[in-house]
Parts: sequence; structure tokens; C-alpha cells
Amino acid sequence: MNELTLYERIGGDAALRQLTDKFYDLVFAHELISRLFRSDKELIKEKQRLFLTQFLGGPQLYSDVYGHPMMRARHMPHTITEDDAVAWLQCMSEAVGQLPISNELKDELFDRFPRTAFFMVNT
Ligand code: HEM
Repeated sequence: MNELTLYERIGGDAALRQLTDKFYDLVFAHELISRLFRSDKELIKEKQRLFLTQFLGGPQLYSDVYGHPMMRARHMPHTITEDDAVAWLQCMSEAVGQLPISNELKDELFDRFPRTAFFMVNT
């Protein structure tokens, strides 16, 4: 049994800052999904860092500021297809790949995303 959360094991806040920096660089430059991201890059990066902190077992930072995550509802204003989810996951896979952690831990971290990403598909 593992006593540390995944958040702690990947390196906590420093790791999530590195992950979200890389991830949104890829997303904002992506030929398919950049169309969806029209607002402030720094703000979405910050929201994602707060959300992933709690999603991976760390403190409830996102909920403290923005309330109940309701992620599917928050994605409803955006037209998200299966292809968008695949592209989002490719960006996440590449960003996870650059973290200074073991391959085993990278796989464990990445495995947290596919189910949630396909749950956001709404078109
Ligand atoms: C299926 C692929 C996905 C697409 C195409 C997508 C797209 C978007 C878009 C367009 C926004 C609004 C950004 C803005 O304000 O400019 C957003 C917000 C957000 N997304 Fe996603 N998303 C996806 C999956 C996910 C997943 C899997 C997670 C979490 C693991 C996630 C977490 C968030 C968070 C935390 C926000 C900020 C919500 C807020 O406004 O407080 N998204 N996403």
C-alpha cells in the first residue's frame, strides 16, 4: 500500500507547474484544439494546476476558489468531439513525458486522464 498521494509522488506543486506550462504550450499551438482556447492562457493554466492538485490527491485548491468542480458542466459551453479528446490526451501524454519522474510513474499519472477526457466529449 502506498501512503503518499500521486500528487506527492510526482513532485507536488513544482511538478504540476511544469506539467501545466508544457501542456498549455502544446494545446495553444495545436492545429485542432487551439480553436477552443480563446481566453487567458495564464488563467486556464492556473485553474488546471489548482484542479489537478486535488484531482491527484493534494489539497482542495480548485474547490476553495471556484466551488464544486462540475467539470463536465463547465465544459458544456465548448463543442468537444472525440477527436478533440484524443488531441487533448496527446498533448497531456507529451507533457507528462517530460516530467523528471520514472516511466512507471508517468504511466500511472497519464492513466488518470483518458476516462475523464472522454467524459468531456459533448458533441
Ligand atoms: C476532452 C478534451 C478537453 C478539451 C477539448 C477541453 C477544453 C477546455 C476548454 C475549451 C476550457 C475553457 C478554457 C478557457 O477558459 O479558455 C477548459 C477548461 C478547463 N478544463 Fe478542459 N478540456 C478537456 C478535458 C479536460 C480534462 C480531462 C480535464 C481535467 C482532468 C480538464 C480540466 C479543465 C479545467 C480545470 C478547466 C478550467 C475550468 C474553469 O473554468 O474553472 N479538461 N477545458
